Amino acid sequence: MFVSDCLNVNDKGHLSIGGCDTVELAHTYGTPLYVMDEPSIRQALREYKRSIDENYENGGMVAYASKACSFKEMYRIVAQEGCGADVVSGGELYTAGQAGFPMERVYFHGNNKTNGDLRMALEYGVGRIVVDNLYELEQLSNIAREMGKTAAVYLRITPGIDAHTHSFIRTGQIDSKFGFTLQTGDAMAAVKKAVKADNITLRGLHCHIGSQIFDEQPFIHAAEVMLTFMDEIRQETGITLPELNLGGGFGIRYTASDHPKAYGDYMRLVAGAAKKKAEELDFPFPYIVIEPGRSVVGTAGITLYTVGGVKEIPDVRTYVSVDGGMPDNPRYILYQSAYTALIANKADQPADQVVTIAGRCCESGDLLQEDTPLQFCEPGDILAVLATGAYNYSMSSNYNRLPRPAVVMVKGDTSRVVVKAETFADLTRNDV
Ligand SMILES: Cc1ncc(COP(=O)(O)O)c(C=O)c1O
Repeated sequence: MFVSDCLNVNDKGHLSIGGCDTVELAHTYGTPLYVMDEPSIRQALREYKRSIDENYENGGMVAYASKACSFKEMYRIVAQEGCGADVVSGGELYTAGQAGFPMERVYFHGNNKTNGDLRMALEYGVGRIVVDNLYELEQLSNIAREMGKTAAVYLRITPGIDAHTHSFIRTGQIDSKFGFTLQTGDAMAAVKKAVKADNITLRGLHCHIGSQIFDEQPFIHAAEVMLTFMDEIRQETGITLPELNLGGGFGIRYTASDHPKAYGDYMRLVAGAAKKKAEELDFPFPYIVIEPGRSVVGTAGITLYTVGGVKEIPDVRTYVSVDGGMPDNPRYILYQSAYTALIANKADQPADQVVTIAGRCCESGDLLQEDTPLQFCEPGDILAVLATGAYNYSMSSNYNRLPRPAVVMVKGDTSRVVVKAETFADLTRNDV
């Protein structure tokens, strides 16, 4: 029934997360409410770290893709677990800095970094800047020269691999806004420019082929393509690049029909194929970076809502309205993402009605799930949507001037607020 190990039904018949009763959490902190299970986050990071250590003798780094869920406590947890972080904006970098994150473990991404972003990255001393296009390379070189610094960079390569996910979250195929295309020769031209650019040290390459991928084959193929390209670079320029960042994208379980592999298995299979390729090419095996986001936080999180009106339209559908919606979870309106929902205070009862869960925004498309099984429900019930830890809080908005909910972290039977709920005063803070 449940998509993650941290969820259970307690002796009151309520949904629990970690050792906490979700109905009590909803009453204590109010709804809507994001809840995250800290041990699950730490366990995912450890599993990735262990598999890097076991499979890559030359070392590597797990850089949590913080776009999945970014706030100070997340960066603290990631730092404590000895991992790095992928950031994509000055805002994420600033948040990491405020949390005291070790900057040498930060990888700065983005297809249109501003000059302000680049300056900030150099000031903060991030580990690697992942250069996405030639304009950025030139700007970075100029800014680094002005600042008297040298930028250690990767080039983002588009390896031309279609990983068959939703088109909005598919980033590795040739028609992509990201990176230098391999097939057109742009990638090799960029490498030659980067090598000659002032105040730039080219340390390696990066690719990211998409998100919510279940099959290991695209990852294997990407690793092989990238190693082959590194070998071509060696042949054409004489330079042996020492680092390879293979991005993130590992799929998670949103519903019972999703069956992701254990992350350790992905890693073993990809590492095995990559090592074989490097041996064939007689290429020194690089330091490997991976950037999991969704799979670190996704199933660690749930969102709790209070049910309001229940509207039955005979022979059409039943709408169950809740006190949140697209501002706290825009993934349904964006991608029609599948989720598992249940009534937290009736978690031991059968889900024997089919309903559509509606958000509270003035927008017909503001739904959280259509035609989904749910327990019989009435106003005041607590609805839980599962596996909302990734790309929910981080994609949230104030549409309809709804304040963002709090984020509560649970650890065993304790809970604490890690992001306070916004107030109405927060909404007008910057209004003049
Ligand atoms: C460059 C890069 N790395 C890592 C990720 C994380 O992907 P996921 O959350 O699917 O693991 C993304 C997601 O868009 C990305 O663009």
